[in-house]
Amino acid sequence: MLSLNNNKNNKIGILISGRGSNMESIIKACKEGLIPAEVVIVISDKPDAAGLQKAKNYNIETAVIERNLYSSKEEFEKAIINLLQKKNVDLICLAGFMRILSPMFIRSFPLKIMNIHPALLPSFPGLHAQKQALDYGVKISGATVHFVDEGVDTGPIIMQEAVEVLDNDTEESLSQRILQKEHQIYPKAIKLFFENKLIIQGRKVKIIQ
Ligand code: GRF
Repeated sequence: MLSLNNNKNNKIGILISGRGSNMESIIKACKEGLIPAEVVIVISDKPDAAGLQKAKNYNIETAVIERNLYSSKEEFEKAIINLLQKKNVDLICLAGFMRILSPMFIRSFPLKIMNIHPALLPSFPGLHAQKQALDYGVKISGATVHFVDEGVDTGPIIMQEAVEVLDNDTEESLSQRILQKEHQIYPKAIKLFFENKLIIQGRKVKIIQ
């Protein structure tokens, strides 16, 4: 049994590639005091990510680290790791970051990286999870917050919330309803992390009441 109780700085780094609505829900929850931590850096691999301006509007430091400016994926990831370490983050939140991180990156921050996925894992991992759910014909989908391990969307699950799939749903309408749940559970999971209420046994995450 491993308690995740070793946060020293209460600092969060967020990685994005796009819109940044989950990023914004985390920033807001910190600013409002729901999460006892501070977002100290938002890093995007895309210079035109809309989330960058949103972060600046909250006076959060931002950085753009573009893959094509580095000779290898390893060098690119090392640049991100260096910045996160320099900012002394306790937790890295992936929020629509559209790259698979290497084992080297994951091992640099064991059980310190969270992700939000728009489906009830282990169903529909990877890209276009909402479309996968619609195409499969499931009646219930949802959102999952999990720790990131070396697989794609396979890490220990922290929190899930279900969403009904309606007969007339489109990818957009289902995505929108799932997104509302994402904005609720991602800050909640992060809050529990910083309150030291998460413990991990094998691949099971338990919440201390
Ligand atoms: C969300 O649907 C999230 O679940 C997935 O990517 C999307 C990011 O949206 N990982 P946003 O950038 O947070 O608005």
